[in-house]
Amino acid sequence: MHRVKKHPRNWGLTLFGSCTKFQDAMPGPTPALLQVRGLMKDYGGRRVVDDVSLDVAAGEAVALVGESGSGKSTIARLLARLVEPDAGELILDGVNVLERERRGPSLAYRSQLQMIFQDPFASLNPIHPVRHHLVRPLLRHGRVPKAGVEARALELLTLVGLQPAADFLDAYPTELSGGQRQRVAIARALAVEPRVLMADEPTSMLDASVRMGVLGVLQGLVKDKRIALLLITHDLATARLLCDRMLVLFSGRIVEDGPAEVLLSAPSHPYTQALLAALPRGVARPVRDSQPRLPSPAGGTGCPFRSRCPEAMSRCKDSMPGLTDFGEGRRVRCFNRETANV
Ligand SMILES: Nc1ncnc2c1ncn2[C@@H]1O[C@H](COP(=O)(O)OP(=O)(O)OP(=O)(O)O)[C@@H](O)[C@H]1O
Ligand SMILES: [Mg+2]
Repeated sequence: MHRVKKHPRNWGLTLFGSCTKFQDAMPGPTPALLQVRGLMKDYGGRRVVDDVSLDVAAGEAVALVGESGSGKSTIARLLARLVEPDAGELILDGVNVLERERRGPSLAYRSQLQMIFQDPFASLNPIHPVRHHLVRPLLRHGRVPKAGVEARALELLTLVGLQPAADFLDAYPTELSGGQRQRVAIARALAVEPRVLMADEPTSMLDASVRMGVLGVLQGLVKDKRIALLLITHDLATARLLCDRMLVLFSGRIVEDGPAEVLLSAPSHPYTQALLAALPRGVARPVRDSQPRLPSPAGGTGCPFRSRCPEAMSRCKDSMPGLTDFGEGRRVRCFNRETANV
């Protein structure tokens, strides 16, 4: 069996330089490539995604954070149209895709919006070598002529930092480390030249030593290829490092939305404040680990956070606050903040 040569020096951030954000590289306001409006999804009579609206521009990285069960993966699956929403609009590059493609997503839509999953061990079929995983989408989507497929596959492997690429082409997933597999999964997603990437906890199953390398690959794609990235993560430090903006989800609803730096340095919503307060100073821990044995989100018509909220008022039980503009590009869903902002 072909043995893969290990090239640990090619891992890490060497490919894309240091981990700084990249707003500076953007010439000015960019219209949102992906616009989501009023997205809804029910499972078994329970609403798990509730009136979610968000924008992601080309060359922008947006983090979606929230505790386990808050609906992050469901949102990603809805955007990828692996499941269909019960209501809402998906607008990609100005086109209302749900309206245009009522019978399901077209191949063109699938190629424009690709997903990277959490588990690089499950996402690659172990019986096929890396070559197969890259060649298949290239041919299926007709991205390159047959004669150019191998050269393109090598280019993709180089792009994600797997070098020398030729050594990896005939490797089987079982011969690769977790970080290398996740890079192959990213290369496969890139084979169809997507404009939007959704990465669902792409590094949570990876060793800390290779995590930064994979994040560096994603960062390079946003910066150099102007890909729009929606990064789902439990790790607020990752969100801060990589993302321009952050959306905080609680019980299927966005409760706060704004520039990552602003949200993390001056959180406004009581839930965002609780997330940050639970972190030891200077240490980033997963959201779910930082909140043991918390009450479930409250049901009924009111704010679902009221069962945990130190500021809850009787009004919070009766109706749902709207997502209101709080200045500095920030939106917050809280009656108390509405008052503060008047
Ligand atoms: N196919 C499904 N059928 C029924 N319920 C589902 C389905 N998919 C998700 N859910 C429910 O929807 C809710 C949101 O799930 P989701 O996987 O989106 O959460 P998440 O924020 O990604 O959580 P985690 O951080 O644990 O990955 C959960 O209560 C989950 O049980
Ligand atoms: Mg999930």
